[in-house]
Amino acid sequence: MSDPTVTTYQRRDIYALAPDDPIVIAYGDAVAAMRDRPDDDPGSWTYQAAIHGSGAFPAPALANECRHQSWWFLPWHRMYLYYFERIVRAEVMAQGGPADWALPYWDYDRDGTRTLPEAFRNPTRADGSDNPLFTPSRRPGINAATVALPQAATSAAAALARPLYTGTAELGGGASTAAGQFRGMTGRLEQTPHNDIHVLVGGSGGLMGNPDTAALDPIFWLHHANVDRLWWVWAADAAHTDPTDAAWLDQSFSFFDADGSQVALSCGDVVDIVGQLGYTYRAGMLFPHLRLPPEILALLRRRLELPPWVRRLPMPAPRPPSDEGTPEPSEVGSHEIVGGSDRPVSLVGRAETVRVAVDARARRDALGDAVESQVLLDIDEIDAEANPGAVYGVYVNLPEEPSDDELRTYHVGNISLFGIERTHESRGDEHRHGAMSVTMDITDLTRRLGEQGRWDPDSVEVSFRPLALDVVAAAGDADVVEGAGAVSHEELPISVGRVTLRVR
Ligand code: C2O
Repeated sequence: MSDPTVTTYQRRDIYALAPDDPIVIAYGDAVAAMRDRPDDDPGSWTYQAAIHGSGAFPAPALANECRHQSWWFLPWHRMYLYYFERIVRAEVMAQGGPADWALPYWDYDRDGTRTLPEAFRNPTRADGSDNPLFTPSRRPGINAATVALPQAATSAAAALARPLYTGTAELGGGASTAAGQFRGMTGRLEQTPHNDIHVLVGGSGGLMGNPDTAALDPIFWLHHANVDRLWWVWAADAAHTDPTDAAWLDQSFSFFDADGSQVALSCGDVVDIVGQLGYTYRAGMLFPHLRLPPEILALLRRRLELPPWVRRLPMPAPRPPSDEGTPEPSEVGSHEIVGGSDRPVSLVGRAETVRVAVDARARRDALGDAVESQVLLDIDEIDAEANPGAVYGVYVNLPEEPSDDELRTYHVGNISLFGIERTHESRGDEHRHGAMSVTMDITDLTRRLGEQGRWDPDSVEVSFRPLALDVVAAAGDADVVEGAGAVSHEELPISVGRVTLRVR
């Protein structure tokens, strides 16, 4: 399953590899071989995807196991990729491919990398053979590379700036005492870029847009390698700590290894990718030749990844460790609700704004003195009958007819509906959790506005605007419409039930 001469496998930046690099070709060849295996072989392409999600009935052993919307999201997907990578590597080696093969990652947050990597775009390879890395089941403009992912969806800066792992407003999601799925406590990295990229690549009805089909798209694995890399980047910062709660460390999940045997890992087994799992991330094109310790590289990369306007912000001071890992619903008790929206919002492809009425006493005591407070924005009861394939940016007190600069300044996060089907009807998990929720820490924005004398707690307005894909190349009419962000989905409205402000 592994090459004994390799001690640490290097996951490489797909944008640093040519489309015909042996690593890329070997991945495609292995995908093709796995597609040829019988469906009931745990190492087959369909079975591997079914471990994440499957509409099949009856579902095979260990199917539908993916963990979302809680602090299990990052470790579960790290384990899932680890065993998938071993299965692929065994096939690569059986075919005589590179023995140090490791899964590449797609870092979509740099200029020039926001389009789908070239090796995944075309139905045929350069030599004319079928391209196993292609699927027509993506948003057409993404496959054609006529549109690029918008930076508001690719940026992990807000997630990586979170001081804590645990919490819905933090990096890794809320503490779930049960190992359940789709728990309604999505963390910031899971939402952006993770959920947003799924929706933007898959569109409405494409493989990547639904957890039951997402892992059938070969790009899924490179997307998740990047999400895993971002967790690693965050954790490399000495100020950051992964959960230390036994409930998290000891929770184990089961998978199949490359020899078909059933195996298990606990979250505590996967916090150190080099020491425990034997892989690391090779820096992308920024530092191809430097041999610096990974912590230093991670810090350098992190500095460079932050857009300039974020770099200027004071980083929030880490809160005392006693706040970590409090049992669900962790954050509710320690924050005071000070305001809420007066009506639900229906999103069909246009910008919408909702006013948040703020309690007068709270306004005086807390919000008026936002400099000292932590201000959280909860967006609850986010729902739709099915995923309309749209991502909305969320903005607080956005001026009318905003400039691009203002859109960046007032942006506090995104909403998108990856997993809404499973949120409605969880499998292998008793209760229906209903709709989706996200929490955004808007303290930085209120502080900046406060300093400029522009934070008026009397008129807090929350706006939702569909994120447009960036048009990067001449395109057919359909792509132009997509690129312009005229994603109209009148037939499939997204409802937002409630917007709440909380302060601590
Ligand atoms: Cu379990 Cu990107 O999904």
